[in-house]
Amino acid sequence: MGEEAKMEQETYTGRSILLIGFMGSGKTTIGKRLARELALPFTDTDERIEKRTGRSIKEIFAQEGEAYFRDLETEELRLLLEEGQTSVISVGGGLPVREENRKLMKQLGEVVYLKASTNTLVNRLSGDTTRPLLQGGDLRERIEALSKAREALYLDAATVCFATDGLSRKETVAGIQELLQG
Ligand code: S3P
Repeated sequence: MGEEAKMEQETYTGRSILLIGFMGSGKTTIGKRLARELALPFTDTDERIEKRTGRSIKEIFAQEGEAYFRDLETEELRLLLEEGQTSVISVGGGLPVREENRKLMKQLGEVVYLKASTNTLVNRLSGDTTRPLLQGGDLRERIEALSKAREALYLDAATVCFATDGLSRKETVAGIQELLQG
């Protein structure tokens, strides 16, 4: 790594950055790159839940139902608050739906809404078997219905909203950094 990059990495003194948005909007991919740029740890609520429970998200939904999973998400945010580590945090697409979670996220840090078009989401999510809410029926219709129900809640949760269509990962990460500085 060059001296300039090193210096840039050491300068992040802000709060944690949370990435929210629909399934397939790039939260994990972009989150990992952003964390690398800022020299922050990266974490993902779905991954943490799977690790903590020893079960996959798919198994939790099938065995316990969605409401149980939503409780685990809220618990995870509380645990992150207790840990108090400045990080880049990618959260599950449905996590911001609960009002309490939106409040907890605001306490945790800056909330960035990654917004992708329905076409992009359909392309990225077709063939996915890991996300229980997208199984069965017409994928586009499911995405449209869920997005419509969630859009206002994502906007309510977000500090900033960033549209990613047509941008490379590098451009997206740079754009988010710029937004957060401004
Ligand atoms: C969900 C999104 C998933 C995961 C679960 C439910 C949702 O996370 O938490 O399948 O309700 O939108 P990703 O957004 O990381 O795919």
